[in-house]
Amino acid sequence: METHEAYKTRTYDLSGLKGISDKTLEMHFKLYDGYVKQTNLLNEKIAAILKDGKIDQEETPAYSELTRRLGFEYNGMVLHEHYFGNLKKGADPEPAKGAGFRQACEASFGDWKTWRTDFVGVGKMRGVGWAICYQDPSTRRVSNHWITLHEVGNVSGFVPLLVMDVWEHAFLLDYAPADRAKYIDAFFANVDWEAIDRRLVAAGSSRTTRAA
Ligand SMILES: [Fe+2]
Repeated sequence: METHEAYKTRTYDLSGLKGISDKTLEMHFKLYDGYVKQTNLLNEKIAAILKDGKIDQEETPAYSELTRRLGFEYNGMVLHEHYFGNLKKGADPEPAKGAGFRQACEASFGDWKTWRTDFVGVGKMRGVGWAICYQDPSTRRVSNHWITLHEVGNVSGFVPLLVMDVWEHAFLLDYAPADRAKYIDAFFANVDWEAIDRRLVAAGSSRTTRAA
């Protein structure tokens, strides 16, 4: 039987971004590495409990706590991979007219500016979490969502297109906590719009998760 290996921490070449310092990125990569390690550790501990093929009554509290933490650690790992994966050096401030992601935003929000206003508005919401533009694979509609911590508010089966970390650790070395808007401007100066286009659900895609 094939067994899956532990998750591996990915690396990203992002030094030299506009308005997001290398120091911030270094610290952020370490935090991300922590989520990968914690995800692996949880899986190991759960596997150890399951090793004898049963969950003993005295194991239930530990098993339950470990399992509850999966949502936090898995999403902490995966969302950081999306976040770093949608940044690049020398990015354009907005996607080209006619680009797939831009067209999807225009179809769902009427125009690009309205989509952007909504996404930035989500990013400025008070609290610790993420702003994510998701695509519904069955309708291809895009919508912007607030995620509390890493796991509350993600829509099951939807595809994350643009992922913005708005935890304070994402910008605290560069901006004051009250200046999140400046960080959001910096984020938009570094988005890899081509990478976002590659995440789009293809028309007629078999990646639909439910009947349209
Ligand atoms: Fe983060």
